[in-house]
Amino acid sequence: MRQTSLVVVANRLPVDDTVAPDGACEWRRSPGGLVSALHPILHHTPATWVGWAGGTGAAPSLPDVDGVRMHTVALSADDVRDHYEGFANATLWPLYHDAVEQPVYHRRWWESYQRVNQRFAEAAAEIAEPGAVVWVQDYHLQLVPGMLRELRPDLLIGFFLHVPFPPPELFMQLPRRAELLLGMLGADLVGFQRAQAAHNFAQLCAKVLNVPATDRRIAVEDRVVRIGAFPVSIDMAEMEQLAGRPDVVARAKQLRVDLGEPQHMILSVDRMDYTKGIEHRLKAYSELLADGHVKVRDTVMVQVVVPSRERVEQYQVLRDRVEREVGRINGEFGRVGEPAIHYLNQPFDRAELAALYRAADIMVVTPLRDGMNLVAKEYVAARVDNSGALVLSEFAGAAAELTQAYLVNPHDLDGLKLTLMHAKEAAPGDVNARMGAMREHLRDHDIQAWARSYLTALDHTGSLAARLT
Ligand code: UDP
Ligand code: G6P
Repeated sequence: MRQTSLVVVANRLPVDDTVAPDGACEWRRSPGGLVSALHPILHHTPATWVGWAGGTGAAPSLPDVDGVRMHTVALSADDVRDHYEGFANATLWPLYHDAVEQPVYHRRWWESYQRVNQRFAEAAAEIAEPGAVVWVQDYHLQLVPGMLRELRPDLLIGFFLHVPFPPPELFMQLPRRAELLLGMLGADLVGFQRAQAAHNFAQLCAKVLNVPATDRRIAVEDRVVRIGAFPVSIDMAEMEQLAGRPDVVARAKQLRVDLGEPQHMILSVDRMDYTKGIEHRLKAYSELLADGHVKVRDTVMVQVVVPSRERVEQYQVLRDRVEREVGRINGEFGRVGEPAIHYLNQPFDRAELAALYRAADIMVVTPLRDGMNLVAKEYVAARVDNSGALVLSEFAGAAAELTQAYLVNPHDLDGLKLTLMHAKEAAPGDVNARMGAMREHLRDHDIQAWARSYLTALDHTGSLAARLT
């Protein structure tokens, strides 16, 4: 087994084992923001990515992806059910997102979570060079830093949480709360998206573990664990370049033609997830159609919803509700050849997404809670001529940075309707000034800046950050 000096450990590998319509096995880019964020910074680096390839049973052996070695951790069907679908996505995910759906607690899921975390820790311990940096990602693997420190005290261990970290009132519900906090404290640096999350974590460590904790440092036994906020971002240069490519520009024009050359094109792109506020947005749009403020003659809405976690019950229920509502809206307000909502329940590649971003005058992003929301940042990156209005929920991490967006509380239906109309009717000067300011912010706060700031904080020598960014 060859060892490397940088090991990333995430539940998902950047490629996912999917089944093509003809039944053949196909490798696709994995869904979600974690892969979008880490993929560009590891490009062509001698690193190893430890993760799950999406299937069940024996671990497939994968070729390198852009120079990064893939090390697969196999999950059995029971692990997928109890660790991934259960503890990670039916307990932690809803709890960390303000319990917008009721978190479910099962003791069997916790046992599986521990076992799978141990397996990831052992895999990382096996392939990390002496003194290597191991960077553990996200809520599926919160016990890994602690387990890894037991196995390999020589390593420099980082942990980054891509999702929100909840306030104490919510976290205190967790039956195994002390173990989860201790697991994270196995890291040398624990990173969050927002300062509020670091604050919540410090408060919880003080309360549950009775250790001295500030929003920057926590003392555990003979060590000091540093904590902080490192808002994740996108590869601004890559998205700008993609959005400017002649084939993407031509595709964006063609999309407008295919949509009947509307005056306004509204776009939303989400994973099918109850945290994304898809139903709130559909309700607002439906009322605007009913009030006559929006007419299908001149305005089209394109809603891309990428299938996600389809075996988890709450996700199945959500999909049924969303599809019923889209059907109702189209039935009520559409005309022959002119649906009110163009609904696409499939994943798109980056070039098609860039074309959609370029084609849309208004992007609507309305999560009820989101760690960051990279889609919002990608839309801004793709608007190379400073046009385009971004309607953005105050409850997305991105809202703390993209303050010139048309910010909205998605729970306030009238406010959401007003903001949509405001964005639709805004003067080009206002739209351009806002977009220009947001683009400037992202130029200085792109994914390379994120990796640099996190890795420099983790490794004071700065050598790792210099190698990667
Ligand atoms: N995405 C994609 N294809 C799609 C839809 C989305 O590759 O059809 C990507 C999108 O470009 C973004 C990521 O999925 O980089 C979603 O990240 P985000 O932070 O918005 O939400 P998450 O899915 O992580 O909750
Ligand atoms: C969010 C999570 C990631 C996860 C992604 C896709 O971005 O923070 O850890 O990979 O969603 O979800 P999935 O369940 O398909 O991995």
